[in-house]
Amino acid sequence: MIKKIEDLKLKIFKLIEDAADVAALENLRVQYLGRKGEVTNLLKTLKDISIEERKKVGPQLQTFKKEIELALDDKVGKFMEIAAAAPEIDITIPGKKISVGHYHPLSIVEKDVRRIFKAMNFSVVEGPEIESDYYNFDALNIPKSHPARDMWDTFWLQDGQKLAKGGDKLSAISHKLLLRTHTSPVQMRYMETHKPPFQIIVPGRVFRYEATDASHETNFNQIEGLMVGKDVNLANFKFVIQEFFKRLFGKNLEIRLRPSYFPFVEPGLEVDLQCVKCGGKGCNICGNSGWLEIMGAGMVHPKVFEAAHYNPRELQGFAFGMGLERIAMIKYNIPDIRMFYSGDLRFINQF
Ligand code: PHE
Repeated sequence: MIKKIEDLKLKIFKLIEDAADVAALENLRVQYLGRKGEVTNLLKTLKDISIEERKKVGPQLQTFKKEIELALDDKVGKFMEIAAAAPEIDITIPGKKISVGHYHPLSIVEKDVRRIFKAMNFSVVEGPEIESDYYNFDALNIPKSHPARDMWDTFWLQDGQKLAKGGDKLSAISHKLLLRTHTSPVQMRYMETHKPPFQIIVPGRVFRYEATDASHETNFNQIEGLMVGKDVNLANFKFVIQEFFKRLFGKNLEIRLRPSYFPFVEPGLEVDLQCVKCGGKGCNICGNSGWLEIMGAGMVHPKVFEAAHYNPRELQGFAFGMGLERIAMIKYNIPDIRMFYSGDLRFINQF
């Protein structure tokens, strides 16, 4: 019996020591100390042996049982300690991607345009979106009855008359309020308060009362340009604008000037840019012409200088206006202007 206990002792303590986890220890507890466990069975046999032997073996068996219990508890405790020390988060799991916002394609292009012109020493100026018809039309040599007003059909403010008669400086000459149809009124606002020479660009939102389609919106953005000095001429304009497109599209592109009409410039020009996609060979973007219509421009009309109280005999300058959406559509190959304002994430998230 004593020998049996000694052998069992060696075996059990080795098993406890080698146990891999808490579950393995629990199995050992059942196997040896459980109701039908080996040590329990040994204790049960005590009643079958002689009193003397029972007095010797009995206490030994009891101590043995206690030692096994202690050893088991001890080892379970060790496993718990290890588990407690381990970090609760699994640092090997890949992190969740945090989605951060980004610029709208129009904002990206506007920032580019501002940066390029600023680098060429232009100042960036802004003006009001609700404008008086004086600045939007009259001051730009488009009098009341002039048919050229039809070129820019707009949204008139119902209470415009009343508002325009309010206290501000322009009310004496202004008549009605409207949503500006172009950024050109800022030309006049700037000239009224500044002396040449200067060069500015005016990015801003404009409005037109017209049917929408793939290339027309009632709400869009323009970039106006105005450079005035003693001898500013069209050659200067050509250089500035060619340099601008070179920096915006990252390559040298030809430009073409065609005669056109805007009441506030003389001569008036339409500027075409060599097709960015096909380089002039003709493709679906340029309608096989090799050229993209990109902006209106011209030399500031003497009447406009007069309205600003400048002397047209002493000064000259060029002005231009282009659509921001149009530039973005060319740059990113966007087929429909309405996509910019659709709020469709499948479109927006591509930028
Ligand atoms: N304001 C004109 C338009 O919106 C564009 C333009 C600006 C033309 C400056 C000439 C000079 O159509």
